[in-house]
Amino acid sequence: MSTPPRGKSRLTVPQFVSRKADGKKLTVLTAYDYPMASLVDQAGVDAILVGDTLSMVVQGHDSTIPVTLDEMIYHAEMVTRAVSNALVIVDMPFPSNLLGVYEAIRNAGRILKETGAQAVKLEGGADQAEVISGLVNAGIPVMAHIGLRPQLVHQMGGYRVQRDRERLLHDAKSAADAGAFSIVLECIPQDDAAEITKMLDIPTIGIGAGKQCDGQVLVLNDMIGLTEGHVPKFVKQYTNVRESVTDAVRQFCEEVQSGEFPGPSQSFR
Ligand code: KIV
Repeated sequence: MSTPPRGKSRLTVPQFVSRKADGKKLTVLTAYDYPMASLVDQAGVDAILVGDTLSMVVQGHDSTIPVTLDEMIYHAEMVTRAVSNALVIVDMPFPSNLLGVYEAIRNAGRILKETGAQAVKLEGGADQAEVISGLVNAGIPVMAHIGLRPQLVHQMGGYRVQRDRERLLHDAKSAADAGAFSIVLECIPQDDAAEITKMLDIPTIGIGAGKQCDGQVLVLNDMIGLTEGHVPKFVKQYTNVRESVTDAVRQFCEEVQSGEFPGPSQSFR
């Protein structure tokens, strides 16, 4: 029997959701291109998010606002080509989910049709309930994202821990009732995240929300030490890719100058 085409054996949305009942924590990381998506997928993560953090960590902007729908689709398509095992979710960039249900379906529909991803993520809770329900009715699985919403940076005046407990609970419940299959909880007190996680049947995925969530997500570039400058307190840096790449580049420059590279084994007779 031949191997199934790439993507055919990816984790499905129902399998992702059922992990909550199984009590096995979910792992999610971002990726934005073929080589990194391929590494992350082969290392065994459950889901890959093509996050709109692309705007900051790949494009070099200072917020997630500038990245466009076409750019998200361009990157998501590279990611889906690389991924065989993980569920692939793509962020709806600002303001692609904010122009009414019809436009949201059109934009999310483009994401699924043009990239081969299986689900979209959008920032919003109670305020996006109608959109979430419209997308779900159109057959588009939605991951909601509440707490700190980076697309609202200008309204919030910065990136801060979100402590309005009543609002968090209301947003979480509204998103779940509207049909979201999972919810990202960003930068909220761990006790509130624990309460939301207990309250909902769908998995919560935390980022700066403590260990009681059903799973954890990080921006890949932050956790591998590729991000330049400040990284948020909730990030754990597992390796330092900037250091390794800088060392390799310096060594290459020195060896070219000294004549050590290319040596006999890199040359043809
Ligand atoms: O865009 C992104 O990378 C995200 C994660 C931080 C959850 O939304």
